[in-house]
Amino acid sequence: MKKAQEKKNIILIGYMGTGKSTLGRKAAKALGYRFIDTDVRIEEEEGSTISEMFSQKGEEYFRRCETDLLKRLETEPGGMILATGGGLPMRQENAACLKRLGVVIYLKASVETLIERLQGDTKRPLLSEGDLRDKIEAMLKIRGPVYEALADFCLETDRMTFYEMISEMEKMQEN
Ligand code: S3P
Repeated sequence: MKKAQEKKNIILIGYMGTGKSTLGRKAAKALGYRFIDTDVRIEEEEGSTISEMFSQKGEEYFRRCETDLLKRLETEPGGMILATGGGLPMRQENAACLKRLGVVIYLKASVETLIERLQGDTKRPLLSEGDLRDKIEAMLKIRGPVYEALADFCLETDRMTFYEMISEMEKMQEN
């Protein structure tokens, strides 16, 4: 296994509920990376939840925190697995930053799976109103092509076990 500093960073992107944080945490442990979750890091730095940030300071404020955090992560040593918020790659400057940071992996899930995973969620302000299926479908129409264009690899999370995904990730970082 390579030393932490020699490892390329691995960046997980994808829609809410695709399992970026869960897979990222497990893979980091298995492959000897450090794990960073942009949402968690921002919540810690701001001392408030994402929902509070959206309602008290607005989405734009949160988006600025994401960009600011990415810029700081670019100056850190390699060997991290980064789970990103679902909307983070939508800003062009963020997408460019992710590309520079490392290997970008798009976690994909079917709408049915996403509905199952996101039903009853109270932590994601963008899903708090309206019909869940309509919301997911409409957002994926816009976001899907952006995720696809940015990604170096794609993992179909519906069909794969964590074990399979982690061993794919190990191969990707070696190439
Ligand atoms: C968002 C996704 C969330 C979080 C915020 C906005 C989005 O992260 O960053 O609620 O715009 O898709 P997850 O993808 O980890 O749920």
